[in-house]
Amino acid sequence: MMNDVTVPQRTITALVVGAGQGIGLEFVRQLLPSVDRLYATYRNSQSELLTITDSRLHCLEMDITEEAQVAAAIQQIQAETTALHFVINCVGMLHDGTIQPEKSLRHINSEQLIRYFQVNSIGAILLAKQVQPLLKHRDRAIFATISAKVGSIGDNQLGGWYGYRASKAALNMLMRTTAIEYKRTCPRAIVVTLHPGTTDTQLSRPFQRNVSPEKLFSVERTVQQLLAVLDQLQESDSGEFFSWDGNRLPW
Ligand SMILES: NC(=O)c1ccc[n+]([C@@H]2O[C@H](COP(=O)([O-])OP(=O)(O)OC[C@H]3O[C@@H](n4cnc5c(N)ncnc54)[C@H](OP(=O)(O)O)[C@@H]3O)[C@@H](O)[C@H]2O)c1
Repeated sequence: MMNDVTVPQRTITALVVGAGQGIGLEFVRQLLPSVDRLYATYRNSQSELLTITDSRLHCLEMDITEEAQVAAAIQQIQAETTALHFVINCVGMLHDGTIQPEKSLRHINSEQLIRYFQVNSIGAILLAKQVQPLLKHRDRAIFATISAKVGSIGDNQLGGWYGYRASKAALNMLMRTTAIEYKRTCPRAIVVTLHPGTTDTQLSRPFQRNVSPEKLFSVERTVQQLLAVLDQLQESDSGEFFSWDGNRLPW
């Protein structure tokens, strides 16, 4: 007769950053059923995220441009767990109350450019720095950041959107460099940037006029597609930039 040996169950933990709305909020919805613990960050206390009632969900307030807030959120997670298996960073900004993407050089403004870099590029590297201890474990782990195809330098045929494009190109370089360092420090962590495809969120809404309906994805579809890409990743894919269909994008 076999001994009744209880195999300890692995606890799967995830962190979704920028989960207050859009693609990040949908990642929370789709990941919740398959993880044991899900940490999700938000900025706005009116966010729909805070209406989700699930004992696995733990919401943390965090502005990614403030390193002290990133560090405090990670410390809160570390007080409860030693490992994260998924870190999905969905933070991004194309426009806000004052910022609009530049159509031409006439619109270039240094403060606006700095803001794009703070939110879209520097935030992700602050997160990579702070979250590193939680990715040093023996299980497969994913550190994915949502970038954008318009951040591809090789693919840029249209011009415009200087700040958003440049900040996403910088994000790609910062994540590629992180992937190289993580290979030494957290060798099971796969670091990637992802293009979600044009997705129906507040970010794309002012620019959807010229997008054909079949090329405008719902957040549900986008997250399903991105989860399928993440599912297929191998360690050798770390440092790469993937589109929603699993193809690699040019830098
Ligand atoms: N939608 C598209 O067509 C599309 C296409 C290509 C790439 N992307 C990228 O996909 C990602 C998700 O965008 P989305 O379409 O889901 O847009 P979204 O609905 O506007 O979501 C962006 C998220 O980023 C958060 N955020 C912005 N600034 C932040 C800051 N300083 N600190 C912390 N969080 C901050 C927002 O928080 P609040 O809710 O508090 O504002 C929001 O949760 C972005 O990186 C975007 O660039 C989107």
